[in-house]
Amino acid sequence: MKKEELIDKIDSLRKEKNAIILAHYYQDADIQDIADFVGDSLALAQWAAKTTADIIVLCGVHFMGETAKILSPDKRVFIPDIMASCSLAESCPADEFEKFIELHPGHTVISYVNTTAAVKALTDIVVTSTNAKQIVDSLPLDEKIIFGPDKNLGDYINKLTGRNMLLWDGACHVHEQFSLEKILQLKREYPDALLLVHPECRKYIIEIADHVGSTSSIISFARNSEKRQFIVATESGILHQMQKENPDKEFIPAPPEDSTCACNDCFYMKMNTLEKLYLCLKNETPEIFVDEKIRIQAVKPIERMLEISA
Ligand code: 13P
Ligand code: SF4
Repeated sequence: MKKEELIDKIDSLRKEKNAIILAHYYQDADIQDIADFVGDSLALAQWAAKTTADIIVLCGVHFMGETAKILSPDKRVFIPDIMASCSLAESCPADEFEKFIELHPGHTVISYVNTTAAVKALTDIVVTSTNAKQIVDSLPLDEKIIFGPDKNLGDYINKLTGRNMLLWDGACHVHEQFSLEKILQLKREYPDALLLVHPECRKYIIEIADHVGSTSSIISFARNSEKRQFIVATESGILHQMQKENPDKEFIPAPPEDSTCACNDCFYMKMNTLEKLYLCLKNETPEIFVDEKIRIQAVKPIERMLEISA
């Protein structure tokens, strides 16, 4: 089917079924353009919690769909490709995380939103990269904290807050790939460009950044900056929104170590396509389900996050 035809069909189906399409900034440009709302992981959770639609189609990765289902259990939540996982969620199996928590009693457990529902069920407070500092700062200084699964984000928040949180050893396959050497070379080629970095990147990339933040924070920094050139160290899908909002500015993707692979693309995020989005709305599958016992436990740390970041 041609792209225009797919877009028309998706549009009629969403109206007919009272469905809302939520998309993350890392989705393909076509999906971002057809979505009712495009946002970072915090904003997607906030939308899922407040929507009056009967159906949510979450164009993102599996944990984002699960978060939507946990917050809106009465709605049906679909994802264009059920295999769209996340390397951070994969790096933190619930049974191993539970053992880690048991080995370190007396700790408050903070989990990044990039985790499975089962890990959230073991958690005291969920965070995203937008609110992690704010949430850690809201806890007493002497509180002992476990932070999982992203060690790079955890290390960055430790540095910002002066804490010594115990970190789980997880990382994202996209953000760990950026090459310091190649970024330094780009900085020499574009001396006026600012380097914008997601906190899932390695410490040595964060240290040379002009701005470190979540996807929404990177986008708003570029929007409000008077500079015209930016080197962007996060997943490539974000460049679409940045270029759309700022047609007269230049966005240069930070290169990965291995220039022969499309490492700036999250292969999980890119599993979703316009065609799969259409089929998902038409056939009402694949659907996200969360075990009710886990959901009841997992909703508490997510709601705690939403309250603190309201
Ligand atoms: P944001 O919360 O910044 O959108 O990040 C989500 C993510 O998966 C980053 O890799
Ligand atoms: Fe997960 Fe990394 Fe993909 Fe984000 S970019 S969804 S952290 S694998």
